[in-house]
Parts: sequence; C-alpha cells; structure tokens
Amino acid sequence: MADTIDNLLHETRRFPPSEEFAANAVAKADLYERARADRLGFWAEQARELLHWSTPFTTTLDWSNPPFAKWFADGELNVAYNCLDRHVLAGNGDRVALYWEGEPGDSRAITYAELTSEVKKAANLLTALGVGEGDRVAIYLPMIPEAIISMLAVARIGAVHSVVFGGFSAESLRARIDDANAKLVITADGGWRKGKVSPLKPAVDEALALDHGDGPADSVEHVLVVKRGDNDIDWVDGRDLWWHEEIAQVSDEHEAKPFGAEHPLFILYTSGTTGKPKGILHTSGGYLTQAAFTHKNVFDLKPETDVYWSTADVGWITGHTYVVYGPLANGATEVIYEGTPDHPEPGRWWDIVEKYQVSLFYAAPTAIRGFMKQGRQIPLARDLSSLRLLGSVGEPINPEAWIWYRDIIGGGRTPIVDTWWQTETGAIMISALPGVTTLKPGSAQVPLPGISIDVVTDAGEPVGPDEGGLLVVTEPWPSMARGIWGDPERFKETYWDRFKERGYYFAGDGARKDKDGEIWLLGRVDDVMNVSGHRLSTAEIESALVAHPLTAEAAVVGASDETTGQAVVAFVIIKDSQKSAAAAEDVASELRNHVAAQIGPIARPRQVYVVNELPKTRSGKIMRRLLRDVAEGREIGDTTTLADTTVMQVIATAVH
Ligand code: PRX
Repeated sequence: MADTIDNLLHETRRFPPSEEFAANAVAKADLYERARADRLGFWAEQARELLHWSTPFTTTLDWSNPPFAKWFADGELNVAYNCLDRHVLAGNGDRVALYWEGEPGDSRAITYAELTSEVKKAANLLTALGVGEGDRVAIYLPMIPEAIISMLAVARIGAVHSVVFGGFSAESLRARIDDANAKLVITADGGWRKGKVSPLKPAVDEALALDHGDGPADSVEHVLVVKRGDNDIDWVDGRDLWWHEEIAQVSDEHEAKPFGAEHPLFILYTSGTTGKPKGILHTSGGYLTQAAFTHKNVFDLKPETDVYWSTADVGWITGHTYVVYGPLANGATEVIYEGTPDHPEPGRWWDIVEKYQVSLFYAAPTAIRGFMKQGRQIPLARDLSSLRLLGSVGEPINPEAWIWYRDIIGGGRTPIVDTWWQTETGAIMISALPGVTTLKPGSAQVPLPGISIDVVTDAGEPVGPDEGGLLVVTEPWPSMARGIWGDPERFKETYWDRFKERGYYFAGDGARKDKDGEIWLLGRVDDVMNVSGHRLSTAEIESALVAHPLTAEAAVVGASDETTGQAVVAFVIIKDSQKSAAAAEDVASELRNHVAAQIGPIARPRQVYVVNELPKTRSGKIMRRLLRDVAEGREIGDTTTLADTTVMQVIATAVH
C-alpha cells in the first residue's frame, strides 16, 4: 500500500475538459452550488425533473429513525413505467432501448415500444404465476434481454427481485433463495460463454434439491426457464415452465400500478466480512432518482444520439443501476453483450463498439489492464472514433491504465470518469463531472453534487492534505441501502456503528485527500477482497475451505495482482487424520476446485499453500497482514505480537 500512495502522490498529469466538450456538456458547474445551497431541495428538484410521479411527494427526507432513511416517502411511482411507458407516451417508442449482442454473433434490436410490450407480458405472466406485491423473485440468467425484461416485470408488479450472478454455484444460489424466501426462480437452460453453452438450469435443479438437513428449498413454487443454450436439461413437471410457452399465452396489456417511493425494489447479495452474504435492500423513488441523475450527468448522456454500453453483468450492482434502471429511466439506447470479451478473439469488445457506434463506454480497470497486456494493436485495428466518454468502476484505476484507456481506447480525446460507489450506495457517489472537472488520472476526485463525503481518522476527524484515512459518507443520500434483508442489526453494526456519534456511514474503504481536497481510493480496510472488481469475503472462502474433509484450518488473504487488482491466496492446515490421504493427491488443485464449486469460479484461489501453522496473536486472531506479506513476496512485517514468532519463517520457507 505504501508504494501505491507514493506513486499516486507523484501523479501530476491533469486533463481539463476541451472547450467544445464543456460547451455541450450535460452537467454544469452550478449543480455544485445549487446542491450546496440546499441539499434536500436539490434532490427533490432532481426527483421531480427526472421521474414521473403518480402521486407527487411532499416530504423529501425522513431521517427520524437513522440509519433507516426514507426519501420522498409520501410520493408514489411505478419504476417500470418510468423506464418504459413514459418514453413511449412521449413519442420515443421507436427508439432502440437495447442492442443485444449474443456471443455467437446473433443479435436483436429492441425498441422502447417493444420492450414495454415484452415487460407488460412478463408482468401478466408473473401475476398469473401467483407472484404478488412484495414477493421475492430470484433471477439467475445470462446477459440476454429476458434478464432486463424479468427485472422490470418484477418491479412493475411491485415484487422484489434478487438477481444472482450466473457464475455463482448452486450452493450460493440456494443460500440466496432461502434468505429471501423466493417464490419463483427465473433462469435459462444455459448461456453462451467462451464459445460454448454454459448450463444454468442444472445449477437451479441442484440448488433446489440441496439438503443440509433442512430439506429441499420449499419457498419456490415455479422455475421459469428461458430457452437460450438449447442444451439438454432435466424437467420437473408442474414446477418448471418454459418462458416462451407461457409468455405466448398472456396479454400485452398491463397497467402499471403506482407504489410508494419506499416500496422495496430489489435485494442484491454482496460479500461482507463474515461467511454469510448480506442482502442489500434498495427501494424505489430515491434509488431511481440518483440512478437517473448520475447516469445523465456522469456519462454526459444525450439520449437522442448516444449509444451507451456498460459491460457489467446484471448480477452486480453496476448491472442494476447502470444497465437497467439509470439508462432506461433516462430513455437511453444501450448495448448489452452476452459473452466474454475475448471470444471469438481478443478484439470482440472493440468490434461491438465499432458495430453499434458506441459513444459512452463503462468498464472495470481489470478489463482495461487485461487489454493493455494483449497489446494496443488489437483495439487500434478497429474504428473506435464513435467513443466520446469512458468510465471506470469497481476498483482503483492506476494512472498507467487510465492513460492507456484514454489514449488507446479513447483516441486521446475522451474524458474518463472514475466512479466510486458500492452495492450499498446504490449509485455513483464520487466522480468527476465530464465537461466540468479537470481530470486527474488515478483519482475518483470529487463527491457528486448533493453527496457529502469525507476522509477521516479513526477518531472521525477529517484528515489533513495528502493524508490517508477512512472514507465516510456524512449525510444521507437518496439511493442509500435501506437495510440488510432480514437483519437490521447487522446493517447498523456493519456500516453505522464505527462512527455512531457522528452519524457517518463507514464505507470500508481507505482513501486519501490530496491538497486540492480530491479523493484517491486506496482499497478496502476490512477483510473484503476486490478481485476483478468483484467483492469477495475472506471469511466466506475460509468457511468453504474448512468445509472440505481435508482441511483443519484456513486463512485467506487478498494479494495484489497485476491484472485482477487482488487475487485470492489461501493458507490451509491439513487435519492430522487426513495427512496421509493428502499426501496422495494434489491438495492445492482439489481445494481450489472445491472453493469454485462451493461459491463460484470467481472465488477460486489463485494459490493454496499447505502450512503447519497459521500466524496468530496471543488471543488467537489470525494476522492476515503477515500472510499478505508472504503472498506478495515482501519482507515480513512486525511479528512481535505473534504467540509464536517463529511461525512466519516456517511459513515463508514452505511457500517459496
Ligand atoms: O472498494 C471499493 C471498490 O468496490 C467496492 C464496492 O464493491 P461493490 O459493492 O461490489 O460495487 C462495485 C461497483 C460499484 C468499494 O467499497 N470500488 C468501487 N468503485 C471504485 C472502487 N475502488 C476504487 N475506485 C473506484 N472507482
């Protein structure tokens, strides 16, 4: 980390907006002044301007029961109506909402009128299947239009979606289904990835049948299956239904009923510092306001002419806010792509940019660094001149990657917005405003208008210039999480107890404020890892490892990785009784595969080291800091608080 801070302190390149960009920019500098003068008035104005309210709200923020905020609470709206019907009614029904590109090269262009009609049918289908207001629907789909149609249909009828990333295992899916008591699962037979069909329905079958002594999943009444991969699948009569057969039988007329602004919209599970993922709850009016506001201003959206592409999967928060709700609320035209960036060849993303003349592009630094490695000739062989703005999300972008992104992908012209936010914040919180802010490579820069953020010491005092500290949000914001599903106490403990007296939200990130007061993110300060922009918990992987019969104890750390930001490195102790069994097999690959099967391939450790001891303090706490030193090949830090100070030498020798 020290290295990183030093490098960042020496980054002095600056990129002011071009005159032309600034003159035509959507965002104007006066947004900051307006928000500073009257923060709540500013958000109320955005909510009225950007959304259609069936019942106008009269109160903006109710913060009488912190940390559970209510925004625009007496207003009513329908989220799907805001993303669909109103654009059609405004005469934009023929505008393309989605350009969908399948990995094998098949494609569909879906207009706002068509998408509205598809969502109405799906809403009728959900109702016919007995899904009602407040019921939970699990969505486990590839990046196909039905993913977006399903989410909007659930929102339209006032049900609550829980999208589970298709890369998660049956075990992870089941845990999420049970936690939310989902009534329906929407899945596909399979989706295309890396040139072949990756099955999904079998994981749903397995998830629902799992029995850890508590019986199979009993909340799920139906499994609705989209035909995409054409792979063979098993079928449970009565439970399983084909999407295309059912949807053919319902009407495309459906009136969107308004719901209260605080009506739950979705639950999205994210990893925390314990083994159990947290179901982050978001509601309707405040979430959609900030989603629309940020999408419009941070991406400089001109809905009549831009083609926007966020490469995120709908299984992550970026896919919710910046693939579904933000862009569609703003009437944007967007690209969605089913497959991997490198299929059938490494330039696939850039082919898509060229094909659809993408103008606004949003991706993760890991992907950018991956392209850097493959070489500039690949993007340079495509016509990327349609691009006019680039975004980055999910992890810090190092200045080298930032400059490469701008020069090679953006032709040296495009602004780059480095956007900091989280599943819990619901929408972007820190970012430059294109056309207004002078850009600094490597820094997320400034809180958005209406957002109050600081970097503070352990005692909650603001840090001085160029000092590091903890990132906090000091005032409530419209798209903030409304809680953890079924566990309000955990919501308080995790995010609000650290700076309780001050009422700050603690983000779990370390940051530094530079001399201009701008913010540089320095990574997580808790036991959460960030691998390729995906959040993983050390505790969750450790508990998967100790669930294996060979393992007695396990400690997991995130070690720096050139491409993925961090990589999972595990240290395990084998049970004495299993030592002879372990000697006979490749323990590392067995355990790596076990984690992938338990949680999902994204959690597969890069390395598993078998050791005889773990470094522990006298009170028995594992000192991950020391394991991180070993995993990153550094000199081992201060070991004086270890119960047995020789342990680290033994571990280091075993590893190298
Ligand atoms: O550590 C921060 C990092 O990603 C975490 C949030 O992860 P998740 O909820 O999965 O959402 C990812 C997409 C918004 C944060 O706590 N993070 C996100 N964006 C940035 C970032 N770190 C540095 N710079 C960013 N722009």
